Amino acid sequence: MEIKRTKIVDIFNPALVGNDVCVKGWVRTRRGNKQVQFIALNDGSTIKNVQIVVDPAKIDENLLKDITTGACIGATGKLVESQGAGQSVEIQGENIVLYGTCPNDYPMQKKGQSFEYMRKHAHMRLRTNTFGAVFRIRHNMAMAVHRYFSDHGFFYFHSPIITASDCEGAGEMFQVTTKNLYKLEKDDQGSIKYDDDFFGKMTSLTVSGQLEGELGATALGAIYTFGPTFRAENSNTPRHLAEFWMIEPEVAFLELNGLMDLEEDFIKYCVKWALDNCKDDLEFLNKMIDKGLIERLEGILKDNFVRLEYTEGIKILEEAASNGVKFEFPISWGGDLASEHERYLVETHFKKPVILYNYPREIKAFYMKQNEEPEERRTVQGTDVLFPQIGEIIGGSVREESLEKLNGEIERRNIPTKDMWWYLDTRKYGSCPHAGFGLGFERLILFVTGMQNIRDVIPFPRTPKNAEF
Ligand code: 4AD
Ligand code: MG
Repeated sequence: MEIKRTKIVDIFNPALVGNDVCVKGWVRTRRGNKQVQFIALNDGSTIKNVQIVVDPAKIDENLLKDITTGACIGATGKLVESQGAGQSVEIQGENIVLYGTCPNDYPMQKKGQSFEYMRKHAHMRLRTNTFGAVFRIRHNMAMAVHRYFSDHGFFYFHSPIITASDCEGAGEMFQVTTKNLYKLEKDDQGSIKYDDDFFGKMTSLTVSGQLEGELGATALGAIYTFGPTFRAENSNTPRHLAEFWMIEPEVAFLELNGLMDLEEDFIKYCVKWALDNCKDDLEFLNKMIDKGLIERLEGILKDNFVRLEYTEGIKILEEAASNGVKFEFPISWGGDLASEHERYLVETHFKKPVILYNYPREIKAFYMKQNEEPEERRTVQGTDVLFPQIGEIIGGSVREESLEKLNGEIERRNIPTKDMWWYLDTRKYGSCPHAGFGLGFERLILFVTGMQNIRDVIPFPRTPKNAEF
């Protein structure tokens, strides 16, 4: 009778000792001598390998030769308590099936390759210990996101991927068209005609689901989106992707303090989830990638995040500069903070996460709620959550609910409203105070895994000049 396969994650159950078991997976290593051979097998269900002990006399010589690093096999035999150090149980291999051989040009054969090298072989890097750990954690974080919001009364809301509006107004959108680019028709002014394009207008991939999210929140009360977003910004940094996943909750009747409470509570929940549910993988990453990882994650849970007005942040930075701290970029009220400034506040000055809020309106998006201040020094109720090692992990705001003020801002910025009339209707019909934020999912994964480059926490990264795989 054929024995049903057990996943390796389930094999370390003491109740199975003494049973015949079957495991299937990819060979990590094979070593041994003429008397005994040891195969370390991994099937992706856990960071742990199971050891299969084989008597070479009982197995075909050619088959044994084919059991090399990377080969795919199935093995059946009795599960016994292990004599050797490093594992609690092992399998006394009786029958081995070879599913796929693995020639020795297998790109993941050598241990200790650089992440740079691994990126060039991103289709195979998934099979390594490090990337297995990262992507199991990524899955767990996605589950944490859904659990958090569902348990707190938010509805999962699907905002569109294709859109005609630029939410962040930064003009960094990837265009979507079915037009024949070899035969582009232009009108008398030299503009491309879109009325005969697929959607009858110019469309792009979304940079954010927020605008549609606001429609959801002002109907269902509290929603969150969780989907891919696209930005054609030419940023070749370890923190930017052209395609990344964003989580955007949006809540009716939420004001500034409540927004910051939600941001902090949500991130802490995700970090705690990782500590509670990804122990083996975190311990592996803590050992191999970043010795301070687990301590840093636990530290986040203990501290209250600092809440600091932008203006106060600028004062601290100016004072630091006048006391001799060297910054590459200048600091002045009204300017955006460079990552060195954010890191100074978080890593040097406060040594804990900081939520900066009440930013000058000129450096934030049009939809943020305006504070009552003179024009030239007007701030808006935007919040950025700044994290050690990461910098900005969340960007959010209270939204401007007054139609008059919002229209004023749209006019002041010359934003075309032809594709936004539906958004403005939220302010026209039963407008309400509301707020929300966006968390970059990969930046959260960077923090939770201790990985250094955002290209290493998404299976197949999209960055300028790179869409392989
Ligand atoms: O600060 P951002 O641009 O905010 C928005 O898009 C708002 N519409 C969110 C909202 O209020 N609903 O982006 C939010 C977060 C950033 O804090 C960052 O974590 C992440 O998205 N992010 C990126 N992550 C990876 N690659 C990029 N190019 C990113 N751009 C933003
Ligand atoms: Mg931002």
